[in-house]
Amino acid sequence: MDSQELVQHFAEQSHPDELEQFDRASLEELVRQHETPFMVLDLQEVEYQYNALQEALPGVKLFYAVKSLSHPALIKRLKKLGGQFDLATSGEVDLVEGLGVKGQDCIHTHPIKKDKEIRHALAFGCTRFVVDNLEEVSKFLPYKDQVELMVRVSFRSQDAVVDLSRKFGCALEELPSLVDFSVDNGLTISGLSFHVGSQSLSPMAQANAINASIAAMSEMTDVNWKWLDIGGSFPVSYQGPVMPIQDFCVPIMDALAELPEGIEVFAEPGRFISAPSMIEVMTIIGKAKRGARTWYYLDDGVYGALSGQIYDHAKYPIAPLQPIDPTGDFFPSVLAGPTCDSIDVVDEDAELPDLAVGDIMIAKQMGAYTIASATEFNYYPKPKVVVVEDLIDHSEDAQE
Ligand SMILES: Cc1ncc(COP(=O)(O)O)c(C=O)c1O
Repeated sequence: MDSQELVQHFAEQSHPDELEQFDRASLEELVRQHETPFMVLDLQEVEYQYNALQEALPGVKLFYAVKSLSHPALIKRLKKLGGQFDLATSGEVDLVEGLGVKGQDCIHTHPIKKDKEIRHALAFGCTRFVVDNLEEVSKFLPYKDQVELMVRVSFRSQDAVVDLSRKFGCALEELPSLVDFSVDNGLTISGLSFHVGSQSLSPMAQANAINASIAAMSEMTDVNWKWLDIGGSFPVSYQGPVMPIQDFCVPIMDALAELPEGIEVFAEPGRFISAPSMIEVMTIIGKAKRGARTWYYLDDGVYGALSGQIYDHAKYPIAPLQPIDPTGDFFPSVLAGPTCDSIDVVDEDAELPDLAVGDIMIAKQMGAYTIASATEFNYYPKPKVVVVEDLIDHSEDAQE
């Protein structure tokens, strides 16, 4: 590379074309057809992610965590692919039932639920539930002939962005007494489950949790162990790379190879399947110079689909739809949402070219825990979801 090429190379690195996987003409056509803000759900991407994870975890039964994105088109596509479903509430039961999913293709994994919710799931035909404490086990005594239980154990990952192990899961030391109580009271314990935390950046927490689960199972010989559920947590790239899923799953598969024969393995992926399958299209509706920064006001923000920035600790890549000259001028900028609240700031430290009111901005990786937690604060409606096929180009991945 000569010096001119080097300058160009580094400029492109610091301002990469965030939208290079998209056909800009297709995005522009969508913008002509729909009023912003709107989400675009790409069903081919759902399929791509599902297949990628299934290839990386051969033999593992994938139960999609409906909570991450519950759009009916996505559920129907996963159902068609043979996917099964991880449910947590009666609302989720009703949703999948309405789409023709059978109860026996679901697991109910919320460790804390009302009796009414247990009855509702049972009426649907879902008989596999998760427990993690004595009170919860006791709730199943009236249904002991109908249910099979998995005990959730808490294994905490230091590398997970969202910690789920403080709120849920029993300590490994509590497991034998919980299992003994259940068995003594005529309940069927069939498995162990864990979730090391969402957006886990290293697979080692899962691999270690598998090893510890295998050791624990081998000590409790009076139980007929049928299942090990390794949870969700598979990461996607927001800003900065993550391990490719095939590599991420190698230590997990190595650990699973030590499982005694006959034990089925479940996983509950949410984010990995849903996050890359949706983008959000927004318009700049205001622009103001405040101090050294230019503030751009978008027509959606952290009270809307970008709510994942608050609840899910995610930082979405957001870029203008119009092509950017990576060697051009970039200015310190702030991206803010439309509501009257000052917390509604999406990015305090954006570096952007000079943009105008009316310009379109695209946020990527917007499928998981986004619209799911959106509100209608200030009476801004939640963005609608436009369903398409094949928005994202994977031809470059195939050549690698
Ligand atoms: C019980 C349970 N299963 C699965 C998931 C999905 O996890 P992820 O999106 O990290 O794959 C969650 C997320 O909160 C969960 O609580």
